[in-house]
Amino acid sequence: MTTSSIQRLLNGFLVLGLLLLIPVVSILSHGKKKHDDDDKNDKQEAVDSTLSDSSQIIQDSVYAAINDNYQTVRYIFKNSCFDCHTDSTKYPWYHVLPFIGGVIDDDIKEAKTHLDMSNDFPFGGHATQIDQLTEIKEEIKEGKMPILSYRLTHWGLLIEGKKQDSVFQWIDESIKMLKELK
Ligand code: HEC
Repeated sequence: MTTSSIQRLLNGFLVLGLLLLIPVVSILSHGKKKHDDDDKNDKQEAVDSTLSDSSQIIQDSVYAAINDNYQTVRYIFKNSCFDCHTDSTKYPWYHVLPFIGGVIDDDIKEAKTHLDMSNDFPFGGHATQIDQLTEIKEEIKEGKMPILSYRLTHWGLLIEGKKQDSVFQWIDESIKMLKELK
């Protein structure tokens, strides 16, 4: 092998080495950059999660306060609404009758998708808590709940007079507290 052919071989290796270096450097620097991004993301996520953690804590404590106040009016709802809007339904004797039993079951199922009071406040259902409370007030004010078919066999369950005053006071205060959360 002549000197020049060794030279050429070395040059070849050098070029090959440089060519190989391009993807290596690119991968390394990209990897580094990605890592920096990850760091930034991690930090941002940490900030976000502290934010959402603290607003979660605030929301939980407002809900807890509303639920505390709820205990003073709960018996009113228990009397008039729990048969359909909770899991603790007291079925009437005629629930055993064919057809009628099915109608009652359907009402209860439908009632709970709108408003589920099984676990106290916050209530279950598909609307926001503010909308639920507004809707409850509306239904009581218009004398629409409990539904008529139920009132035919359960008398005196419309929420009226002093009971209505205390329920509405609880609802108004609660809505005010919930609005301050935003
Ligand atoms: C005999 C069963 C029954 C009782 C008792 C009952 N509800 Fe209902 N409730 C229903 C049914 C069924 C629906 C869903 C269909 C409808 O809106 O009429 C409903 C729906 C609702 C809704 C949602 C309305 C809407 O348009 O989204 C609210 C709020 C509500 N009830 C409040 C009450 C309150 C407050 C009481 C007690 C004072 C009560 N309900 C008692 C059966 C009942």
